[in-house]
Amino acid sequence: MADQTARRIAPAKGKLGVLCVGLGAVATTFIAGVENVRRGAAKPIGSLTQMGTIRLGKRTESRAPLIREFVPLAELKDLVFGAWDPVPDDAYTAARHAGVLDRHEHLEPIAEFLKGIKPMPAVFDQYYVKRLEGKNVKTGKTKRELAEALRKDIRDFKAKHGCDRLVMVWCASTEIFISPGPAHWTLEAFEKAMDAGDPTVAPSMLYAYAALQEGVPFANGAPNLTCDFPAMEALAKSKGVPIGGKDFKTGQTMVKTVLAPMFKARMLGVAGWYSTNILGNRDGEVLDDPESFKTKEESKLGVLEYILQPKLYPELYGEIYHKVRINYYPPRGDNKEGWDNIDIFGWLGYPMQIKVDFLCRDSILAAPLVLDLALFFDLAQRAGLSGIQEWLSFYFKSPQVAPGLYPEHDLFIQQTKLKNTLRYLMGEEQITHLGIEYYQDA
Ligand SMILES: NC(=O)c1ccc[n+]([C@@H]2O[C@H](COP(=O)([O-])OP(=O)(O)OC[C@H]3O[C@@H](n4cnc5c(N)ncnc54)[C@H](O)[C@@H]3O)[C@@H](O)[C@H]2O)c1
Repeated sequence: MADQTARRIAPAKGKLGVLCVGLGAVATTFIAGVENVRRGAAKPIGSLTQMGTIRLGKRTESRAPLIREFVPLAELKDLVFGAWDPVPDDAYTAARHAGVLDRHEHLEPIAEFLKGIKPMPAVFDQYYVKRLEGKNVKTGKTKRELAEALRKDIRDFKAKHGCDRLVMVWCASTEIFISPGPAHWTLEAFEKAMDAGDPTVAPSMLYAYAALQEGVPFANGAPNLTCDFPAMEALAKSKGVPIGGKDFKTGQTMVKTVLAPMFKARMLGVAGWYSTNILGNRDGEVLDDPESFKTKEESKLGVLEYILQPKLYPELYGEIYHKVRINYYPPRGDNKEGWDNIDIFGWLGYPMQIKVDFLCRDSILAAPLVLDLALFFDLAQRAGLSGIQEWLSFYFKSPQVAPGLYPEHDLFIQQTKLKNTLRYLMGEEQITHLGIEYYQDA
């Protein structure tokens, strides 16, 4: 039974506009996927909000409603889509170019719908994404002016489509690596840096800034710094808007954050972990540039350090050699192959190996995450949660956390955190998995 008071959550009435920054493989697979699901032509597999259930109360109670029936989420029929991209292709052309979804089964039947989604001119600068060229680009005298133009786009989109609420998800390319610096400490410094054309203010930050100023939740699906710094966190708090990131946790890293906790749970040592990928989509091409790759590398490398805690377990993980490679290989398109060779050791130090060869489809794994993030960020906003949404770290490779906290990377700890947050929001008891109450009479 519920033992606490449910939080007040505004109802999900009216339309929810989902603004994607970037209309590439992930965004078009997401948008076309939702439309196919809405028309009954496919199932939303991989989406926790659409297919997942949540256990409530004791195991003996057999209460496990669908998440979307337990918490008041926006319904798929109420979603409308918008996007920005420096490439002017509409969603149909972009989806054809991405080559993820079957043309005859999933694109032609919804061609008119997709053609109606045309990207707004982007805030784009090749300095931040070396391998792309953009023609559909905004011009402005200062970065602040560009951010203001994005704010106008947001307002215009909302009015044009009669949206009740909006969310923004960064589905655009990975920018070059930027360390947080003086421009990022306070909002005042950040705004001055926008005026001064400071190179540490990247386009993704302008989208995040515009979203927050307009009261729109912002989720970052790439590893860029974007909204992971104090100025943006303060802005999110002051505007009462949820933010989160970074980098969708989809393929190899998802597997890593399941296997690594297993080794640690059993006190098995890890000598080395070599992860390599081949992929041939535009994302792979962008990541072929060393500066964009560095941003991704940092994001992919971080997880083992936090999960294995080498400082606590120096004999098991103190000497681990961790390497991550991404190789651009055009013939594979979006069908990435991620290999992992893991050298582990057990009792008395005897070595063993595990090989994982994940033949995945990058955007097929990412699309349901975009949907879940859009719906959960909208829920968070309506529930009055603002600032960093750590409970959604389930979806990210480098989860944003409060200063001084280390991120939880273990997929199942993240899942427990997510579901317990939903229980908390709805006034249901937390599930601790203690279970002793089942045995008290024994
Ligand atoms: N697919 C996955 O499994 C996965 C997992 C984690 C992260 N990601 C990240 O998601 C992002 C999208 O991946 P994708 O496969 O769709 O890539 P993509 O190259 O197909 O699409 C990215 C799009 O963003 C556009 N873009 C670049 N800079 C922009 C800007 N400043 N404003 C607006 N649009 C801009 C590009 O023109 C392109 O159309 C990438 O950063 C990728 O690293 C993907």
